[in-house]
Amino acid sequence: MCGIIGIVTGKPVAGGLIASLKLLEYRGYDSAGIATMQNGTVWRERAAGKLANLEHKIKDHGVKDGGIGIGHTRWATHGAPTEANAHPHIIDNVIIVHNGIIENYAELRDELLANGADIKSDTDTEIIGHLISNQLKVESNIETAIQTAIGRLTGAFALAIMIKGQDDLLIGARKGCPLVVGIGDVEGHYIGSDALALSPFSRQIVYLDEGDFVFATKDSFKIFDQNGQSVERDVNIVELQAATMDKGKHKHFMAKEFFEQPDVVQHTLAHYIDLKSNTIKLDDKLDINKFERIVMVSCGTAFYAAMVAKYWLENTVKISVEIDVASEYRYRNPPLNSKCLFIVVSQSGETADTLAALRLAKQQGAVTVAIVNVPTSTMAREADIILPTFAGTEVCVASTKAFMCQISVLATLSIGLATSLGRIDPAKATAMTKELTQLPRLINDCFSIEADIIKLAHDISKVEHVLFLGRHTSFPIAMEGALKLKEITYIHAEGYAAGELKHGPIALIDEKMPLIIIAPDNEVYEKTRSNIEEIAARGGDITVFTSKSRAAEIRKLGLKAIALPDCSSFLSPFVYTIPVQLLAYHTAVHMGTDVDQPRNLAKSVTVE
Ligand code: G6P
Repeated sequence: MCGIIGIVTGKPVAGGLIASLKLLEYRGYDSAGIATMQNGTVWRERAAGKLANLEHKIKDHGVKDGGIGIGHTRWATHGAPTEANAHPHIIDNVIIVHNGIIENYAELRDELLANGADIKSDTDTEIIGHLISNQLKVESNIETAIQTAIGRLTGAFALAIMIKGQDDLLIGARKGCPLVVGIGDVEGHYIGSDALALSPFSRQIVYLDEGDFVFATKDSFKIFDQNGQSVERDVNIVELQAATMDKGKHKHFMAKEFFEQPDVVQHTLAHYIDLKSNTIKLDDKLDINKFERIVMVSCGTAFYAAMVAKYWLENTVKISVEIDVASEYRYRNPPLNSKCLFIVVSQSGETADTLAALRLAKQQGAVTVAIVNVPTSTMAREADIILPTFAGTEVCVASTKAFMCQISVLATLSIGLATSLGRIDPAKATAMTKELTQLPRLINDCFSIEADIIKLAHDISKVEHVLFLGRHTSFPIAMEGALKLKEITYIHAEGYAAGELKHGPIALIDEKMPLIIIAPDNEVYEKTRSNIEEIAARGGDITVFTSKSRAAEIRKLGLKAIALPDCSSFLSPFVYTIPVQLLAYHTAVHMGTDVDQPRNLAKSVTVE
């Protein structure tokens, strides 16, 4: 994931920038750079590869240090990890580093080119620089110019900016990607991707809110919200040790990891999508023509990721997909051979049953793929092909961001394999890939339902049982919602296929039985709606998670509805995972259970 640092102290900052970039290395990156400024003169050094390359270049060329600077570790999204694409970018008077994806990059680039802009790199970052530079030419107030230019961006991003001639002004902006402000222990102000990056300089951390802008000088800083209103944000004291395992402004790792989802999904997608051509980058070893079927095996939350993928793979790749939980799969002597593509999905890469299933598949000659979050794990080492997720460390036992990254990889895999087999219209493949790039923003937009979910969570905290229902790809999300709730609140919850309700669970329904029904506006919406009416007729206490465009008709039935942003059927598993995760979290918080370490559960189950 890209890492950002900005320092304004009035004293040489290059050493501090490098020290901070070292602390951001854990996020993963493929190029790095810093820029400093003194008396309006900008000095910049960038290098592809590791930070050591950048340090060598700085040593060779000599540091021309300044009292303000910005630095960046880049994880390539738009454009290859070359020096020319590395940050900081300099566009006229604007020096900028960026983390995120600008979705309307192509339109903005065309507009800039039509107006004669000289665009040098393949990055979306350079586009932002041009917009700011143009705005500064027509608007003398820097704060307004920045807010206007950045207001034109669609997507999820964090930015650090310097303006030539403004030796005492460090600018930051965040929407969807994290950015914090540090008040220097000794002097100056800092901005960075996380508190850890600022830990050598600052223990007083301000976590910027969604849509915030910060304008910092060495002596003061101002924050504006997304409406341009000047706002105060809390100052948090973060010790170095805490910064290493930083919960940010959150009370629990689960909340921190939940809100990281736009960022980690973006970084996972960046690994699999060529953003310039909107095509999927598939591992060369994955020759789908060799396979007659796909088998996917996993445990817990990772199993529900596989379950979502079964719908996608069968529908787009048109290949038969078998899924099973690893503890069952490994003991039922399933026939496998070299014509079988065998996929395990695992956050830890160490789950004993999943690992045993992987080894079984290898013994029988299947080609094995591991979708794993821990790159050094046993599964990553033993599988023939690794498809990494880039969720970063997940501390909370109940998985949130790892699941979202798993389905991100599986979504790209579905498009990639279908394309390789020629089973998808190329235009459709491009359109679906483009949709995926909207995910960081879309997930971020979903966070606005939190207040509604808190109200629902207070009601749910009083009950003993909950049923979650969904059809199609919402069925696994219903299962995941039930799992999440029981894991951290100890309330008995079950997930069912909505259509299966009348074959048993309907007997449970009375006015005391709360039901959460996941009903995105997709091809099976009307079917789910019929199920909703069947339950309503029997007096069930129903809450429907549905799209904004359908919420009104649900409310007209006298039922509770929580309205999620409108999205395509393809993206609905991502969008509808947000409310089920949030519901479990807020119910647990209200009940006072141990959110991050629920009783009896382990993060990585390395025994049978
Ligand atoms: C445990 C964890 C779950 C996780 C499951 C599979 O049960 O508590 O959160 O989904 O293991 O773990 P894995 O690391 O293989 O994804």
